[in-house]
Amino acid sequence: MLRLPVVSRSLFPATLIKGGAAATNNARPAATAPAAASNLLEVFVDGNPIMVEPGTTVLQACEKVGMQIPRFCYHERLSVAGNCRMCLVEIEKVPKPVASCAMPVMKGWNILTNSDKTRKAREGVMEFLLANHPLDCPICDQGGECDLQDQSMQFGSDRSRFTESKRAVEDKNIGPLIKTIMTRCIQCTRCVRFASEIAGVEDLGTTGRGNDLQIGTYVEKMFMSELSGNVIDICPVGALTSKPYAFTARPWETRKTESIDVLDAVDKTRFAYDGLKRQRLTQPMIKDESGQLVPATWEEVLTRAAGALQGVQGNDVAAIVGGLADAEALISLKDLLNRLNSENLCTEEVFPMAGSGSDLRSNYLLNTGIAGIEEADLLLLVGTNPRYEAPMFNARIRKSWLHNELQVALLGKKVDLSYTYDHLGESAKVLQEIASGTHRLPRSWLK
Ligand code: SF4
Ligand code: FES
Repeated sequence: MLRLPVVSRSLFPATLIKGGAAATNNARPAATAPAAASNLLEVFVDGNPIMVEPGTTVLQACEKVGMQIPRFCYHERLSVAGNCRMCLVEIEKVPKPVASCAMPVMKGWNILTNSDKTRKAREGVMEFLLANHPLDCPICDQGGECDLQDQSMQFGSDRSRFTESKRAVEDKNIGPLIKTIMTRCIQCTRCVRFASEIAGVEDLGTTGRGNDLQIGTYVEKMFMSELSGNVIDICPVGALTSKPYAFTARPWETRKTESIDVLDAVDKTRFAYDGLKRQRLTQPMIKDESGQLVPATWEEVLTRAAGALQGVQGNDVAAIVGGLADAEALISLKDLLNRLNSENLCTEEVFPMAGSGSDLRSNYLLNTGIAGIEEADLLLLVGTNPRYEAPMFNARIRKSWLHNELQVALLGKKVDLSYTYDHLGESAKVLQEIASGTHRLPRSWLK
């Protein structure tokens, strides 16, 4: 059960996250605004003027005019590594192409995103990348959603000057969710940066140099993070793919559908999707006179249940629900029981459910919303471990702790949350003390 009173003492002023996120979080400056009115710089993208903030990178400036620059290592939510060189562009009057993800713009620059020099630079980088990348797209699970595949079609050449054998890298076993084919790795280090910056674990890294460079866990071990499955999405090639989903479908064979995540409140179900079709109750059963369970139709079962509910009231009726029922179904069942004057709804975790205060919607909602955590300056966690109960939410707390100086206090069992916090102990009395103003946490923070 997740209980997360998020307490916001005052709203932060709009937070500027340095790096790539800044460009996407800020309002786009009007191209016609006079430069003297602020500190904006005027630069040109293929001759088109644009006003950008100092510190904006060449890549971000190009994106502001809608010009997509190819990239592998750059990710707007991660630090800039600048190691794949796919984002090379020509700047007028600058002798060499520059890595646009890592180069801040300078006043008056004219960025040429489609010049001969830019195209040749991209073809050269692509040729190097493909020198060692296996040509196994037909059997690669990333096929159809692979950045390398797409970008080599768009920016690569149809020739290669490399005739040497390709290198091969041993696969690693880094967990039950991630399938690795490390020969496909292009060493962009996105996964390494994700692990240390977002997940807060230093499990992934590089070993070796040059042709021997490898991504791995240094010693043979698992990637021990509740967010480990997310590296599947950020790996631009087929080096890290989903193990449970291997060889199941191609992206164009699937379609999006709205559903309810019953495993946590955020994003865990993607690794339990097989529960939608397989591994689920498909055959209702009814007990016959001898007490044996026999297969029945849904109609028979529901008629039997409705008949049994006729005429019962109060404590004569109770419901017990398994851990995988969704919140909407739970509340509907509770409403039904309440109509029969019964409060006896129990889940596997909470007995009875009425004790958790589900009558008031605000008791089970995260009142500030998930994104609201980035505007809080104090977070009080009571009897919860968001790292395992809602990992994506915990990642946001960590982000806020890293960038917004969020203070976290925890009342309950001491746990590793991937960030530091003030442990207030395990006694519920602390809440009373805070409310009465006798605790060192100021009472005003609870308002
Ligand atoms: S495994 Fe994927 S994400 Fe990690 S460095 Fe290699 S290509 Fe990049
Ligand atoms: S995206 Fe710029 S160097 Fe990789």
